[in-house]
Order: sequence, then structure tokens, then C-alpha cells
Amino acid sequence: MALRKIVLQGDECLTKVCRPVTDFNVRLHMLLDDMTETLVESGGVGLAAPQVGILRRACVVMNEDDEIIELINPEIIKTAGRQDGLEGCLSVPGKYGFVSRPNVVRVRAQDRNGDFFEVEDEGLTARCFCHEIEHLDGHLFVEHTDHLLTEEELEEYIRQQEEEEQ
Ligand code: NI
Repeated sequence: MALRKIVLQGDECLTKVCRPVTDFNVRLHMLLDDMTETLVESGGVGLAAPQVGILRRACVVMNEDDEIIELINPEIIKTAGRQDGLEGCLSVPGKYGFVSRPNVVRVRAQDRNGDFFEVEDEGLTARCFCHEIEHLDGHLFVEHTDHLLTEEELEEYIRQQEEEEQ
């Protein structure tokens, strides 16, 4: 396994519609292994292939049990509810924005061997499914928000939330 370089906003890889994965071969497996290693190293919860410069429909998501879900050629087949929350992206470091997403998301995808499966989750993982699958169509979360918070504003926001909870 190897770490891959994460491309940043402004790189044209992040604006392309990715092509479907057709070969479920060792090359794909190496890409997925590298993406997982890169995701864990970076401390994120999701990473899409175009973020490491590969224009194919593949992404990895870490759920709230710290399990890695590999999604090849994923499609959202059902959504329910709504959540509003802060979102960030490894390709847009240090910036966060409020984005509205469905609260429950069901995805149909292929696994690394090409077998179809469905996975459903809620909350942060549902948000992550939406975010990563959008990357495969060349979209970034910043398109859904008109105000990006800096690290300082984020800290201030978290402090206020904590005070409100006390
Ligand atoms: Ni992202």
C-alpha cells in the first residue's frame, strides 16, 4: 500500500465526470487499498478516486464504527429526511460550510470484485455518501454553501455549541 497525493480545489480532476469502473482487477484493488491508507492517514471520513487524480467512479467511506466501505460505481437509490450540518473536504483543507443533506441515504454499488450490494446509513455517514458520490460527477460541497468558515470561525462555532449544551 502507498499514500497517494490528494489534489486540491482548483485541480481540474475535481471538475470531471468520472468514468465507470469496468475492470475489477489488481489495479483497482491497489487503488482502493491506497485510498484507504490515504484516508486514514489524513484523518478524513471519505475519499473519492478523483481526489487522488483517478477519474473513475470509486470512493471509500469510513462509517461511525470505523469500518471502510468501498463503493464502486455507486448510485443513491433512496433518501429520507434532512440534516443541516458542517461539512469539509480533504481537497478544500481548512474550510467548512453548512450543507443540507438527506438524513438517511441508501446506496447501490459494486464491491471490489464487481458484486452488487446495497448499504444504508444515516447522519454523518449518509452525508459522506452524498459528498463522495458528488465528487464522481465533478462537484464539491462548496457549491452548496454561500459561506465558508475558517478554522477560527469553526472553533468559535464549536465553543458556542458547547456553551449552549451546558
Ligand atoms: Ni470531498
